[in-house]
Amino acid sequence: MSHLDTLLTTRRTIVCLGPGGVGKTTTSAALALRAASLGRRTLVLTVDPARRLANSLGLDRFEHEEQEIGRDRFDAAGVPYGAPLFAMMLDTKRTFDAIVERYAPSADARDRILRSPYYAQASTRLAGSQEYMAMEKLYALTQSPPEPGKPRYDLIILDTPPTVHALDFLDAPGRLEELMSYNMDLSATGDDGEDQGIISRGGRMLGRLGLGLVKANTTILKGVGKFLGADLFTDILSFLGDFRTMAAGFRERSTAVRRYMCSSEIAFVVLTGPERSSIDEGLYLADRLVAEGMPLGSFVVNRVRFSPMDASPNEDEHLSAPARQYLSESAARYDALVSRDSRELARLDGRLPVAALRVPEFADDVCDLGDLHRYGTHLTR
Ligand SMILES: Nc1ncnc2c1ncn2[C@@H]1O[C@H](COP(=O)(O)OP(=O)(O)O)[C@@H](O)[C@H]1O
Ligand SMILES: [Mg+2]
Repeated sequence: MSHLDTLLTTRRTIVCLGPGGVGKTTTSAALALRAASLGRRTLVLTVDPARRLANSLGLDRFEHEEQEIGRDRFDAAGVPYGAPLFAMMLDTKRTFDAIVERYAPSADARDRILRSPYYAQASTRLAGSQEYMAMEKLYALTQSPPEPGKPRYDLIILDTPPTVHALDFLDAPGRLEELMSYNMDLSATGDDGEDQGIISRGGRMLGRLGLGLVKANTTILKGVGKFLGADLFTDILSFLGDFRTMAAGFRERSTAVRRYMCSSEIAFVVLTGPERSSIDEGLYLADRLVAEGMPLGSFVVNRVRFSPMDASPNEDEHLSAPARQYLSESAARYDALVSRDSRELARLDGRLPVAALRVPEFADDVCDLGDLHRYGTHLTR
C-alpha cells in the first residue's frame, strides 16, 4: 500500500494546503474518491465553488448541505466502489453562527449578536475567518455525535480556501485568539478619559473585525459630535459588549482546534506546482507544519512536465519545412521546461521528512470521475 493510501485509510482528517491554483480542490476530490474506493465513508469539504469540479463529481454544483455521489456514478466511470462519498461546500457565516450559538451566554445575547448588522459584516470579513471557519467546521464534524439523519464520516478531506498565503490558514486560530484578547481590553479604562478611550479602542477593534466602514463612522462621531449618530454609536458599543461575552468560549474553542491540528488523527498534504517560487512556498509551508508539530503527511508537486516518448517531428516527411522547424523549436522549448522541472524537483531530494510525490501535467482539465480516479492513481503510485 502506498504511503498516501495508508493515510487515507488510517487518518480521520486530511487537509490539502498550498498556494492558489496548484490543484488543491482537484486533489481533495481525487483523494476523497480514492478513500471511498478503499472503503471509507468520506466527505470532501470544500470552500471553492468550482463548478467544473462539482460537475466532475457528477454534481450540478456544490451545496452547503452534504450531497452524495451515488454508486451509479462510480459504476458508470468504472471506478471501484467501496463506501459512500459526499461533498459539501463550507458556509462561513453559518459556521460562525454555530459558534455564537454555542458560546453566547444567554438566548437574548445570542439573538442580539446574530441580528446585529455589525455581526453580519464581522462574520464574513474578519481577517482569516474563512480559514478559521473551515478548520472549525472540520473540527465540529469530527467531534460532535452525528445529528439524526446525517451521516457520520470515517474520513473528511478539507480543501482549504484559495488564499494567496496558505500560512493564513495555520495562523487563523491564533489570530482569533489574539482578536479576542484585544476585545477583552476594551473594558479597560483608557488614560485619555473614558469616552475617547473607548471610542478609539472600539474603533481599532472594529477595524480588526473587518468593519472598516463602521470604523470610519466612529471617527466621524468623534470629530463632528454626537447629534448624527449617537444611536449608531450606542449600537456599536453594545454589539462589542455582547461580542466580548463570548471571548472565553472562542479562546477555548480555538485552542481545541489548534490541538486537533497537531493530533495524529490529522495529516496535511502540501501541494505545489513545479515552478521555483511555488516549490519554495511549499517548502516553507512544510517547514512551518513540522515546526508547529502539525503532521506533514505528504508533499505533492502537481503539473510536472515529463519528456514525451514520441520520436522527433523532423522525421515526419509530410510536414513542410517551416512546420518541421516550428515543431522542433516547440519541442526544444518543451524540453527546456522538462529539464527545469526536474532540476526543481531535484532540490527536494532529502530535503523533507516525507517523499515528494509528482503528478504529471495532463493534456486536459480534470473533467469527470474517471479523470479524478486517474489523478488519484498518480498520487498513490
Ligand atoms: N495535473 C494537472 N494537469 C492538468 N490540469 C490540472 C492538473 N491539476 C489541476 N489541473 C487543473 O488546474 C485548474 C486548477 O485546479 P484547482 O484544483 O481548482 O486548483 P486550486 O484549488 O489549488 O486553486 C483546474 O482547472 C484543474 O482541472
Ligand atoms: Mg481551490
